[in-house]
Amino acid sequence: MISLKKMPQSTITMVGARLLQNGFLCNQALKRESPIMAAGGMSLVGRLALVTGGASGIGRAVCHAFATEGASVVVTDLNNQGIQETVDSLPKHSDNRHSSYSLDVTSGDEIRKVLEYIINGYRKPPCVLGTFLVTQAVAKVMVDQGVANGAIVNLASIVGKVGNLGQVNYSASKAGVEGMTRTCAKELARFGIRCNAVLPGFIQTPMTDAVPDKVLEKLKKQIPLQRLGNPSDVADVVTFLASDRSSYITGTSIEITGKT
Ligand SMILES: NC(=O)c1ccc[n+]([C@@H]2O[C@H](COP(=O)([O-])OP(=O)(O)OC[C@H]3O[C@@H](n4cnc5c(N)ncnc54)[C@H](O)[C@@H]3O)[C@@H](O)[C@H]2O)c1
Repeated sequence: MISLKKMPQSTITMVGARLLQNGFLCNQALKRESPIMAAGGMSLVGRLALVTGGASGIGRAVCHAFATEGASVVVTDLNNQGIQETVDSLPKHSDNRHSSYSLDVTSGDEIRKVLEYIINGYRKPPCVLGTFLVTQAVAKVMVDQGVANGAIVNLASIVGKVGNLGQVNYSASKAGVEGMTRTCAKELARFGIRCNAVLPGFIQTPMTDAVPDKVLEKLKKQIPLQRLGNPSDVADVVTFLASDRSSYITGTSIEITGKT
């Protein structure tokens, strides 16, 4: 299992510094006989998803993708108004139930409370998409509860792989997330839990809204596909990695960059 004490201090700091966007999917077996699934081909019917940083940007798009695929989504974030807005906007089916919860992912206490809420409120064991603290806490619950087919998807960044001017801390933290993902994949494989990362390039979210237009235009010209990504471009890949459609993929990173 993952142990905080065994990780180098620098890695803890780096990973903790940008715990923006994580989540986890419940590891309930798919209800393959579900009428919803038969009609829509949805891959996450009967599953429970936790998304942290779900009030905005990529996190909100992931909530939408999961709910569209039939999952029940627990939306968490520091931003209480944003989580409620996300929940209100999610597609609802007869099989799913969404809720929101205030969560700062740098607080172990808050993570434990949210997990208690989920276990008591949904009575379903979870599977995870998230960075270190969330991963550690949720993986423990999954293993304790004997969950099968768990899936962890971490939000890293292409910057962790190729670097970027002025982003030493960010690139180091994201490289840390990738390394952690590969290690989690090896450690958790014997429990049937898969761990993968996605590496977005420049995605149009409130995070990139802060970048001046002039800089964005210059960036676009350097992207072979000639545009910034949409949050849904990331959410689609996250949904694939969280579903059983990727059941033989673990410990890998998928770039979503327009070939930046
Ligand atoms: N947008 C991009 O171009 C891009 C590129 C590569 C990677 N990423 C990564 O994707 C993730 C999401 O980015 P985004 O663009 O959607 O950002 P965003 O700013 O739109 O959303 C981030 C959300 O995280 C929440 N948050 C911040 N700190 C938190 C904490 N401690 N606990 C709980 N929630 C917290 C914020 O309230 C916000 O709702 C981040 O990890 C980011 O590094 C984004």
